[in-house]
Amino acid sequence: MCGIVGYAGNRDCTDVLISGLSKLEYRGYDSAGIAVFEDGKITVEKCKGKLEELEKKLAREHKPQGHCGIGHTRWATHGEPSDINSHPHGNANVSIVHNGIIENYIKIKAFLTDKGYEFDSDTDTEVVAKLLDYYYNGNPVETITKVLSEIEGAYGLEILFSDFPNTIYAVRKDSPLIVGVGQGENFIASDVPAIIQYTRDYYLIESDEIVSLTKDAVSICDIHGTKIEKELQHADWDVEAAEKGGYAHFMLKEIHEQPTAFRTTIKPRIMDGMPFIEECGITVEMLNSYKKIFIVACGTAMHAGLVGKYVIEKLARVEVTVDIASEFRYRKPIIDKDDLVILISQSGETADTKAVLMMAKEMGARTLSVVNVKGSSIARESDFVLYTHAGPEISVASTKAYMVQLSIMYLLAIELAYAKGVISKEECMHLTKELENMPEKISEVLELKDRCQFIASKLVTAESLLYIGRGLDYALSMEGSLKLKEISYIHSEAYAAGELKHGTISLVTEAMPVVAVATQSDLFDKTVSNVKEVKARGAKVTMICSEEVNVDKDVANHLVKLPKVDDILMPILAVIPLQFIAYYTSVLKGCDVDKPRNLAKSVTVE
Ligand code: M6R
Repeated sequence: MCGIVGYAGNRDCTDVLISGLSKLEYRGYDSAGIAVFEDGKITVEKCKGKLEELEKKLAREHKPQGHCGIGHTRWATHGEPSDINSHPHGNANVSIVHNGIIENYIKIKAFLTDKGYEFDSDTDTEVVAKLLDYYYNGNPVETITKVLSEIEGAYGLEILFSDFPNTIYAVRKDSPLIVGVGQGENFIASDVPAIIQYTRDYYLIESDEIVSLTKDAVSICDIHGTKIEKELQHADWDVEAAEKGGYAHFMLKEIHEQPTAFRTTIKPRIMDGMPFIEECGITVEMLNSYKKIFIVACGTAMHAGLVGKYVIEKLARVEVTVDIASEFRYRKPIIDKDDLVILISQSGETADTKAVLMMAKEMGARTLSVVNVKGSSIARESDFVLYTHAGPEISVASTKAYMVQLSIMYLLAIELAYAKGVISKEECMHLTKELENMPEKISEVLELKDRCQFIASKLVTAESLLYIGRGLDYALSMEGSLKLKEISYIHSEAYAAGELKHGTISLVTEAMPVVAVATQSDLFDKTVSNVKEVKARGAKVTMICSEEVNVDKDVANHLVKLPKVDDILMPILAVIPLQFIAYYTSVLKGCDVDKPRNLAKSVTVE
């Protein structure tokens, strides 16, 4: 869950590495470091903290001058965030940066210690650097191949050998790696945003492919040394898409990008007024034939899956099981070849989600992934992929990715409902039209941001909050609660409104604000009763509901009224105030909105 970058060319290498790392900080920001060939020798500079700490150090002490080097931004797994545990690791002969985890590092460390090696850090990565040094025979590719046969785990590795001062070597297994191809310069990185400022053309590197990269050439071979030819990929999104574009934070920008992201995701999947998801290879007959549907994901993506469950079950009357990937993979689920397993992931790299995908494939099920990052591992390994077109999501807190995941859930549900004959063609076209109209409604709701900012000012001093709702609104409450705690560090809990009185209501006092989501007309009166129960115990209530309902003045302290759309589509609108409330609470608390503590955007370790 780190970011790695490498450059060989005529530019100032340190500048390119720093700019690349700044685009990868979403992958981790516990420490940063670079290794650059300077006067034929490897110079390493690294320190604890965000990239800006490294930049200050370089300005204060020494900025390596050179044209070939590697860089790293860390999300700590083995060893606390510290100067010494920062990457690169190695010695005068070899220097490496690593994204992933080496599972058998203790065994290798013991082996190398026996051979007289000493270790400075607590990291798993340092053992790989020292093992490369131990097996080095003058041929980097052979050396790397030997080391690969001994290490277990996941890795994206970039390696400098002091004997080859203009070359970067790299290899990956289960951690992403791309090679950017320029004119008289080449790049390597964990992800496209790191290179897009310089080139849009890139190769996707597969597991166990070894890259040798200089400014003039990129050569890729397998572990047997056989050369591999690759198709060049092209990144078609704007550089500005990965920049803040005048917004104070990426999160705010990404919230505002939701109408466009929604439109761009559903438009190509609507044909003659009907949903059309067949482009991914899944036919209506196939959809119709699956016995069970599982939706598996993590965090916000799992919350999108929960909405998917409600919507598919309600519209198509097909049973759907939703699970957290880290739980699902170890609970010996009963899956077989007649089942469809849907994986949802923004990054397409989440370790637990990917593990479930591999498990489902092994058990013979068909797999469909809903993924935002093109060419990511989950997308590539799935039988079918429905890409969401949110563009790059940089803020750790997911907003627009959730929105587009919802859009796919709705398309799937409507298509499935029609395929099953549960809804008529007219109903299908009506719902599809409503879905097509949602971007305008989303834009309307974005206008509520000042109201949400005001509400945030009332919540900012709370130590703990409750989010409550029923049905779809309960799924929304989970997302609202996660968003708030993730970026404002205020504890919160989502609870099914009707379940409160079975225990949790005892927590409610005037010190415990409650956010109630009440957008479903059939459940509205029941949720209002629950709201009254918490209000009677002193809670200050914020209620999110449709503009069509009449709410007595004394029911809630703060109301957020949403434009009325079909009940089933209300989550698409209701999530926006929840995002704004979390965002402004975080801003008011002075938190680092886009890079909350202890987190990383892409969770590639289990
Ligand atoms: O990349 P993924 O969608 O697979 O990521 C899943 C979660 O890690 C992610 O949604 C996380 O919960 C977000 N930080 C929430 O805002």
